[in-house]
Amino acid sequence: MKVSRLLPSLLLPVLLQACSSSDKPPDGAVLFKTCASCHQVGANARAGFGPQLNGLFGRRAGSTPDFAYSPAMKQSGIVWDDATLSTFLQDPEKVVPGTRMRFWGIGDERERKALLDYLRSFQDLH
Ligand code: HEC
Repeated sequence: MKVSRLLPSLLLPVLLQACSSSDKPPDGAVLFKTCASCHQVGANARAGFGPQLNGLFGRRAGSTPDFAYSPAMKQSGIVWDDATLSTFLQDPEKVVPGTRMRFWGIGDERERKALLDYLRSFQDLH
């Protein structure tokens, strides 16, 4: 997988969002576009390049049946909630060393919160 070549195009929307976020609050649905190249949410979400993210809050890390996780993720012992997701999205490699999720991280706390609120809207789907 040429993930490294994908990265600049994945990061650009985040950077653009960061530049324009001073006047209006961050929009989780817009922010999720940076995740959507790898992750699906909503009805019929399935594993793609990354696991589907429905019903994420209270879910054990590395536990969806249709995705081949890294040993690091499976053995992390993390249960996803606001706190664990926020730190993971800030710096994935720091929270789960050896994770296959190649993602720079979101430094802005308001953006992480908006993203988590968006993900929470898929909490009742599986
Ligand atoms: C380049 C592809 C890619 C991008 C972009 C990406 N992820 Fe991931 N993500 C992955 C992969 C691959 C995994 C599985 C990692 C592993 O097994 O170590 C993962 C795992 C996760 C997990 C753990 C899921 C579980 O079932 O335990 C969460 C939560 C997550 N990603 C959220 C996000 C969010 C939110 C974004 C956007 C801000 C995002 N990811 C962006 C590829 C990506």
